[in-house]
Amino acid sequence: MLRSTETKATQRKAFPNHRNYRIDDLTACVPREAPLTELPASFKDWDSLAARLSCKNDEEVRAFRAAVDAMPPLDHTTLTEIREIQRGFMLIAHIAQTYVFGMPGSQPLQELPEQVAQPYVALAERLGCRPVMAVAPYAFYNWRVDETRPWWSESRNITFPALQICHTLTPTEQLFGSISVLSESIAGPLYPHITRALETVDKDGDDAQFIVRECLEGVLQSIRDIMEATQEIWKGCDPATFFRQVRTFLSGWSDPQLFPNGLLFRGVTTFTESPDPIDPYALSTATVTNQPNDPVVHKALAGDPGIRLKFAGASAAQNPSVAACDLFLGVHHRGQVGDSLSSNGKHHNLLAEVRNHMEGPHRRYLNDLARHGGLRPWLTRKLEESPDQPGVREMGVAYNACVEDLTAFRSKHLAIATQFVVLEAKKALREKAAMTGTPEGEGSEEAKGSGGSSVVPFLKQARSETSETKVVTSPR
Ligand code: HEM
Repeated sequence: MLRSTETKATQRKAFPNHRNYRIDDLTACVPREAPLTELPASFKDWDSLAARLSCKNDEEVRAFRAAVDAMPPLDHTTLTEIREIQRGFMLIAHIAQTYVFGMPGSQPLQELPEQVAQPYVALAERLGCRPVMAVAPYAFYNWRVDETRPWWSESRNITFPALQICHTLTPTEQLFGSISVLSESIAGPLYPHITRALETVDKDGDDAQFIVRECLEGVLQSIRDIMEATQEIWKGCDPATFFRQVRTFLSGWSDPQLFPNGLLFRGVTTFTESPDPIDPYALSTATVTNQPNDPVVHKALAGDPGIRLKFAGASAAQNPSVAACDLFLGVHHRGQVGDSLSSNGKHHNLLAEVRNHMEGPHRRYLNDLARHGGLRPWLTRKLEESPDQPGVREMGVAYNACVEDLTAFRSKHLAIATQFVVLEAKKALREKAAMTGTPEGEGSEEAKGSGGSSVVPFLKQARSETSETKVVTSPR
């Protein structure tokens, strides 16, 4: 059935071609060429600090911070090639995490020194990212392969163990980081299928439904591949270690209890958001409104020697491929209805906002896909107007298979989030209650994701919004 927002008019909006947005046919939003493993010699300070990110005690944290404080400012403008810029940003993002957070459980610092803050903001601006830990610096710019064992091939014959994460803040992040790379890069073929389907719809020729059906079958395979890659998490990622250690270093600086005034970036006067930032309170992920109500720059305090930024940290929700499936199929996500309203009276829409944490071209691709409207309006019109035309019903069935598997992905992912976040949060509360002698329920909060969501209601809502998208295909 047509939704109220879907018009009967033939859709003629320009469709985005993924190749214009730094998205690769084989490795999606992960660069196909392996990231550099070192920068030019003049950046040896960054490279050597990144080799000692994982601190085991307070003394090591103090020594790390002292080394950062003593580091001279380095001229990031001499980094010109894209892989140099990506590596520079990745190194600085990791150095900033250890500098601010030290070790899991310790009180974070509230500021970054000039020699980290300035290149962090400048390199983020050059990539269209935000100066905070996100999936791109955490994983996409931070991997290497064992040269003798290729980790992808066109037949999806992936030899996963060959993929390794180079810099980690805790040694246990290897598997978690490489699954983030794998689950995005495995979806490479998704994008050519989306582009071909939208191009076909644009031409609307007599054989369109046959081509679109083929594309939907390709999309379905990618959804299954993402789902399979995500399941690797059960093979060696320990939930307690994830919850107590890894999450610390995925954090940003938006938690009002830990960072009441955001994080101070010393010596920085402005941060220019990449073009096309999306309103974090957008009513739907399918609506692109560019009036961010949440100031990216937190209010300055009197005498501040820099700007204060408040950003949430890394979450695999920042992997663009699942969002691309949603927008292509026409799955619309509303703001988190279960959550309390923000101070401006609106519901935060985390699934729209995660786009602001992606590399600039990837955010613009998703926004342009949202503006286009995806496949659904054309497909539902075909099903309504010419259900008996050869190939139309089969196309509807292929579409529903994609929606069903995307729903299944969300069920399996919910099981992961429950095990790794919700149950671990409960365990931590029980331990705290036993230590302090307080009743267990006291001070207990609903488990929050690293993106700041109330995990279970949020993920369940995303799942039902997916399953609701199925279309009616008339029986033969
Ligand atoms: C230990 C592994 C993982 C845990 C604990 C986990 C947990 C979470 C949590 C708590 C959220 C809610 C948003 C937030 O506040 O961050 C979320 C969202 C999300 N995660 Fe994961 N996640 C994991 C791995 C993955 C992987 C490998 C993928 C691969 C694509 C993925 C894809 C997503 C997506 C797309 C969302 C947005 C919600 C949706 O679209 O349904 N996650 N995750």
